[in-house]
Amino acid sequence: MNTDFLKNNFEQTFKQESTDLFFSPGRINIIGEHTDYNGGHVFPCAISLGTYAAYGPRTDKKIAICSGNMDNDLVAFEIGDRKLEADPDHKWINYFKGMTAYVQDESREIDHGFNLYVWGNLPYGAGLSSSASIEMLIGHVLTEEYGLEIDPVKLAQLGQKTENEFIGLSSGIMDQFAVNMSKKDHAIFLDCASLKHDYLPLDLGDYEIIIMTTNKKHTLADSAYNDRVRECQEATSKLQEKLRIDHLGDIDEETFNEYSYLINEETLLKRARHAVFENQRTIKATKAMADKDLDRLGRLINASHVSLQFDYEVTGKELDTLAGSAWQQDGCLCARMIGGGFGGSAIAIVKEDQAEAFKEKVGKIYQDTIGYAASFYEAKIVDGTHKL
Ligand code: GLA
Repeated sequence: MNTDFLKNNFEQTFKQESTDLFFSPGRINIIGEHTDYNGGHVFPCAISLGTYAAYGPRTDKKIAICSGNMDNDLVAFEIGDRKLEADPDHKWINYFKGMTAYVQDESREIDHGFNLYVWGNLPYGAGLSSSASIEMLIGHVLTEEYGLEIDPVKLAQLGQKTENEFIGLSSGIMDQFAVNMSKKDHAIFLDCASLKHDYLPLDLGDYEIIIMTTNKKHTLADSAYNDRVRECQEATSKLQEKLRIDHLGDIDEETFNEYSYLINEETLLKRARHAVFENQRTIKATKAMADKDLDRLGRLINASHVSLQFDYEVTGKELDTLAGSAWQQDGCLCARMIGGGFGGSAIAIVKEDQAEAFKEKVGKIYQDTIGYAASFYEAKIVDGTHKL
């Protein structure tokens, strides 16, 4: 990434030179989908596509942010204003605003404002956590430039709070944790209930990860996402009549089967079954990875997609076409949707020397079936949000 572009745009917009640059990645998730808000495990990592920012201080109390991805739209708000409200006309600024409000709640006064030019090469709204990328970006700008002492896990939690309370999405901790805490060439095996985590080397031999983006526009993802969260809570309450559990992530497959009569409602049963089995698959997948048993890892990843398709019902024709056509290709170990679903992206793990043919063939099937093109990205696994 040539950072001159950022510096130049900063200078043209704000008529001053930038003093620092930041990078905040997006994320993929190897396995463990819709388990985070169920107190289960996830296995994500940060990717080299992400959001960049050029920073320069101001003498007044304004934060002025210009987005290169939004036609250089420029929005300013006041620091010290602890009653920052969401802006309905510039939705993109709300991730910055929410995070700024919550960081200020946690720390001492910030005495002067700043200008920020932001640009990202992460496809937005594509299930690769562009919003967490932005939240952690502004989180680092605030903590590093103003010497605020906020623990990195706490910073991720403030990002989640921004989603939950400022944006209105009942999402879990996975995205912000992955974006902020990742290490190069590793995936994070995270227990979302305790936040205990281990870094496992992402050793895929002669395979590589290909990100496949549906390019589907206009989804109802947010309301459907909140519905799934609610359905899992309902199923948990029913199980709590006999089981002393806090989350679906607290039980294994056998316990679930034994007590499933308590749920006794088809939709809730399917949602809960996904949450329980997906959590167990994630634990098994990290063992398979440690044992270098790639075939088993691949089967678990494929099973994750099937469960998200039929039990959790968050895939849709676009993601099913990507995963289904990936499974048919030579050299493809596995594929599944990632993130919230309903559009967005999938990943495939493919033999390096067959990656080009893979993209061409899956791309053609997708175009023929869906009527427009998918996009493909090859992911490098990188460190979490940092100053450049
Ligand atoms: C979105 C949410 C995450 C997680 C995933 C599904 O990315 O932000 O918290 O729930 O969906 O696993």
